[in-house]
Amino acid sequence: MFPKSVFPDTAEVNADGHLVIGGCTAQALADEYGTPVYVLDEATIRAKCRAFVSEFSQRAPGARVAYACKAYINPALARVLNEEGLGFDVVSGGELATIANSGAGLENVYFHGNNKTPQELEEAIAQNIGWVVVDSFHELELLDHLAGEAGKTQDILLRVSPGIDPHTHVYTTTGILDSKFGFSIQTGHAAIAVRQALAAKNLNLRGLHFHLGSPVFELEPYRVATELVLRFAAEFREEGLQMQHFSPGGGFAVAYTRDQQPPSVADYAETICSALTATCDDLGMELPTLVVEPGRSIIGPAGVALYRVGAIKDIPGVRKFVSVDGGMGDNIRPALYEAQYEVVVANKANADPSETVTIAGKYCESGDLLAQGVALPEIESGDLLAIPVSGAYCPSMASNYNLNPRPPMVLAANGSSRLIRRRESYQDLMYCDVV
Ligand code: LLP
Repeated sequence: MFPKSVFPDTAEVNADGHLVIGGCTAQALADEYGTPVYVLDEATIRAKCRAFVSEFSQRAPGARVAYACKAYINPALARVLNEEGLGFDVVSGGELATIANSGAGLENVYFHGNNKTPQELEEAIAQNIGWVVVDSFHELELLDHLAGEAGKTQDILLRVSPGIDPHTHVYTTTGILDSKFGFSIQTGHAAIAVRQALAAKNLNLRGLHFHLGSPVFELEPYRVATELVLRFAAEFREEGLQMQHFSPGGGFAVAYTRDQQPPSVADYAETICSALTATCDDLGMELPTLVVEPGRSIIGPAGVALYRVGAIKDIPGVRKFVSVDGGMGDNIRPALYEAQYEVVVANKANADPSETVTIAGKYCESGDLLAQGVALPEIESGDLLAIPVSGAYCPSMASNYNLNPRPPMVLAANGSSRLIRRRESYQDLMYCDVV
């Protein structure tokens, strides 16, 4: 059965058994742009944006949605997100430059990161970025100094670490005590940071941020952390901390495989907003503006990676390797996090499975496996494989390992498609080399 639940909203299988995304057959997209190629379904991106805006703002009026660019960003995508009214969470000068370049205003941009460089902070201040989310004492002093030099007062949030385990992969867990991110509430560092930020001449402390990890399949950590951070904030009311903004970060989970059932956007919104309202009510605190930062949950389900099958190696009684023309260079997640994906043969999308295979990439590493133990119909060289939920953290974490050019990005909508990033050429690979 075609696993429709993990494919973009517009995905279907046509009468010939071919996968269709955004009204375009995967076969036609692969023929036009080559493989591997990442296809983004515009309708899904817009629907996810609207779900976040509507579910959060109906429960917390004025709530803002800032897209986490690390999941994937480029200027064309930024334009779509901007049209949907989203702001942006950036974590580098490169992401900031991309947003600035897309024409989106920077007043609704949040600059995150545990070690922003002086140059990055200078660039952010010079471009009048809306918000810097300060992560360390080093940054607190540096930013105060740089804002002063620029003759500006910078609005900031402080990133606090609530010490709550969201039960996700250790590499993507952030809000616990043993984390490089944020000021720990438990150790007392967050309290010192609040006082220091309030005293800083060129900084305007407007609220607090936390981020638990990603992907977070449970609701309870958001509820507990929201309450804990608001109660922490209330301790500093007399000292002048006004919680105008409150951000519980991102980390909202998506289903990668057909058996996964993450909470809905409405579930996350209900949990966070009801904890926010109830705690503020209890503390007699005015409701701050809520800022959420989804990345994966907006772009992940909109993306499908298409690969062409090449070599097939059957080791009787051991395993059948089906090799494709991409791999760990465009999707490091299986190798890095043991991430699991569904695989569909795009040109036989309704065919019944007849064998269990391993999908290998073309990179010179035995660990370059995109999916293991997947049940597929009989597969031949030349078949087209589709891996859904590939929009987030695949192209954005891609590398040129083995000097493979990174794949193109295509936006599909209403039966037509357009390139929003071309495939890299060999020339691109040598562009920065000096001989
Ligand atoms: N806000 C902050 C402060 C974050 O650190 C992150 C993700 C997000 C928002 C967005 O989280 P999302 O909604 O996308 O889950 N490379 C990993 C994910 C790393 C996430 C890092 N921070 C992966 O491929 O699973």
